Amino acid sequence: MTSTDTAGIPTPQTTGHVAVDPAILYFGTPVVLLSSTNADGTTNLMPMSSVFWLGRSAVLGIGARSQTASNLRRNPELVLNLASPANVAHVDRLALTTGRPDVSPWKTRARYVHVADKFAAAGLTPLDSATVRPRRVAECLVHLEAVVRAIRPLGTRPGDDPESARQLTVEAHVTRVWVDPAIRLTGHADRIDPDLWRPLILSFQRFYGLGVEVHPSRLAGIDEDRYREPRTAS
Ligand SMILES: Cc1cc2nc3c(=O)[nH]c(=O)nc-3n(C[C@H](O)[C@H](O)[C@H](O)COP(=O)(O)O)c2cc1C
Repeated sequence: MTSTDTAGIPTPQTTGHVAVDPAILYFGTPVVLLSSTNADGTTNLMPMSSVFWLGRSAVLGIGARSQTASNLRRNPELVLNLASPANVAHVDRLALTTGRPDVSPWKTRARYVHVADKFAAAGLTPLDSATVRPRRVAECLVHLEAVVRAIRPLGTRPGDDPESARQLTVEAHVTRVWVDPAIRLTGHADRIDPDLWRPLILSFQRFYGLGVEVHPSRLAGIDEDRYREPRTAS
């Protein structure tokens, strides 16, 4: 409910909320290990969590100066390996690493180091993909192979040089979905059981799991197959 003052201008309600200015707004998103192809054909892994999906599209927020950004510009193929709490120690080993040999001054000050072989550094096992070149992470229960559809500057204003963007959005089209049978919904060929799939969540800079279901969902009354898009070539 909005209140207004005598001039009809909306005034903030007195709820006890306080206006704050956080440096980051990471209120909780799933953790992904993003596979992309290095110039020498090996696979780079980047832990990331600025991601959402709509239909078969994934939208990712990626630092413009990361190894991953340059890899995706050169070879527009990727795998989103979705992490669960069982993977958290591996993910954490990749924090503060970059595939770029020329570590930026900001990252150097934050104690990032260059790591050429992220699979070895994290103790993870590479698996060949079916539709793209970067390799999958065997230990993750979900792998989404995808191709890049668009890379756009994020955070620039009209008139700014798009090359000056410090962040990018990457829009990708998912070409193949792999899941461990342990998270499949019984009786359905193509569905995931959300009681069995527990994503790893990054909230601000810390790791959490997901709790149990908290309320019946009216949205869940819609048959999932109604969201299926007509199949198109990637
Ligand atoms: C759990 C986690 C989540 C992260 N999420 C993002 C993200 O969404 N976008 C991003 O640009 N960097 C994110 N980072 C930081 C990148 O992993 C970091 O910039 C890394 O150096 C990129 O690797 P690369 O240079 O080899 O591509 C995240 C790091 C961690 C540990």
